[in-house]
Amino acid sequence: MRRMRVLFAVALVVLAAAAVMAQQNAPAPTGPVPAGLPEWAYTPPVPGAPPPVTALPNDDNTNVSIPGTTKTFTRGQLRAAKETMDWWPEDRRGGPVPDLARFGKQGVRQCTLCHLPDGSGRPENAPISSFSPTYFMQQMQDFRNGLRKSADPRKANTNTMIGFAKAMSPEEDRITAEYFAQQPYPRRMKVVESKTAPKVRMQGGMHMAVPANEGGGMEPLKAGEFVEVPDDNLRAEARDTRLAWTTYVPPGTLNRGKQIAAKAQCATCHGANLEGIGPVPALAGRSTSYLTRQLFDFKTGARRGPWGELMRPVVANLSVQDLMAAAAYAASIQPPAAAQPITTSAAR
Ligand code: HEC
Ligand code: HEC
Repeated sequence: MRRMRVLFAVALVVLAAAAVMAQQNAPAPTGPVPAGLPEWAYTPPVPGAPPPVTALPNDDNTNVSIPGTTKTFTRGQLRAAKETMDWWPEDRRGGPVPDLARFGKQGVRQCTLCHLPDGSGRPENAPISSFSPTYFMQQMQDFRNGLRKSADPRKANTNTMIGFAKAMSPEEDRITAEYFAQQPYPRRMKVVESKTAPKVRMQGGMHMAVPANEGGGMEPLKAGEFVEVPDDNLRAEARDTRLAWTTYVPPGTLNRGKQIAAKAQCATCHGANLEGIGPVPALAGRSTSYLTRQLFDFKTGARRGPWGELMRPVVANLSVQDLMAAAAYAASIQPPAAAQPITTSAAR
C-alpha cells in the first residue's frame, strides 16, 4: 500500500515536470511584444499558471444540460474534436451548414469550434457572422498574405487561424463567408460601468469569473484594464450561443468612448449605429476585447490589409485608453434586432 502511494507521488511529480517542460517548450514568440499592449484583451498564457479548472463534469459520459432546453449532450460530445454540438439549431438561417464549417478538413478545424455554430464567436477569437462576404473574404486573403497578424506574437489561436486560411482556397472562403453572412449577430454583449469586477482566471484562452465557492467575488477594477467574462462558465464551455457576456469598465468610459467615436467619425464608415455598411464591418454589440485587439493591431501595423489603410489614420493619434473606450462604446450599442433570444443568468 505504502509502495503504491510512493509510486503515485512519483507519478504526480513526473506529470508536473512534464507540464512545466511543455510550457517551456512552447514555440518561441516570433517577435517582441509591443509596448503598451493591453494584456487583458490579448489574454496571453501565464507562465507557471496552474492547469485550468473546468465547469464541465469530470466524466465523458455525464450529460450536461443548460437552461431553456431539454436537450442534453454528454461531456464527451461537447469536447468532441470533430463536430461542434449546437444547442439551438432552430436559430440558424440559410442551412445546411457547409461541411468545412461543420467538420473542417485536413489541416483546418471546423469554424464552429471557435466561432460557434452561429458565428458569434468568443472574446478570444472573433465574431464572424452577419458580415458582407466581401469583407469576410478579404480578411481570409489578408491572413494568407501575411497582412493580418496579432500584435501579440504569443496569441497562438490567431497564428492557428492564419494556418487555416493558408490551407483554404478562395472558393472555400466564399462558401463559409456566405453561410456566416446569413447568421444574425445576436444581442449578447453587455457593458457595465463599475469600480469593481469579478476576479477572473484563464480558461481555454479567455477569462472566466472565479466561482464564489472557489474564492471568487468582486474586486476593484485594475487601472487600465477591463474585465470581459461570460455570465455563466458552464454555458460558455458548452458553447451555448444564447449566453450573454459582460464587460466591466470604469465609470465614465462609455461617455469618453462616445466622444472619441464622434470626433473620429466612426459612424461615417461603420454606419450610424456602427451596424456596418456594405463591406465595412459591423462593430455594434461585438466583444470589447476583440474590438480592442483589432484597434491595437491596426495601430501597430500587425493588421494592415488594403482596407486597413482607412483605419490607420483613425487610430494613429488615439492612446490605448482611447482605443479601449471606443471599443467599449461600440460593444455597448445594441446590434440590429436579432432573431435569436438571449438568456442571461447571474455571474458565477
Ligand atoms: C482555433 C480556433 C479557430 C478556428 C477553428 C477558426 N478560427 Fe477564424 N479566427 C480565429 C481567431 C483567433 C481569429 C482572430 C482573432 C484576433 O485577431 O484577435 C479569427 C478570425 C477570423 C476572421 C476575421 C473576423 C473579423 O471580424 O475580421 C474570419 C473571417 C475567420 N476567422 C474565419 C474562419 C473560418 C471560415 C473558419 C473555418 C474554416 C475559422 N475561422 C476557423 C480562430 C479560429
Ligand atoms: C474612413 C472610414 C473608417 C473610419 C472613419 C473608421 N473605420 Fe473602422 N474600419 C474601416 C474599414 C474599411 C475596416 C476594415 C479594415 C480591414 O479590412 O482590415 C475597418 C475595421 C475596423 C475594425 C475591425 C473590425 C473587425 O471585425 O475586425 C474595428 C474594431 C474598427 N474599424 C473600429 C473603428 C472605430 C472605433 C472607429 C472610430 C474611432 C473607426 N473604426 C473609424 C473604416 C473606417
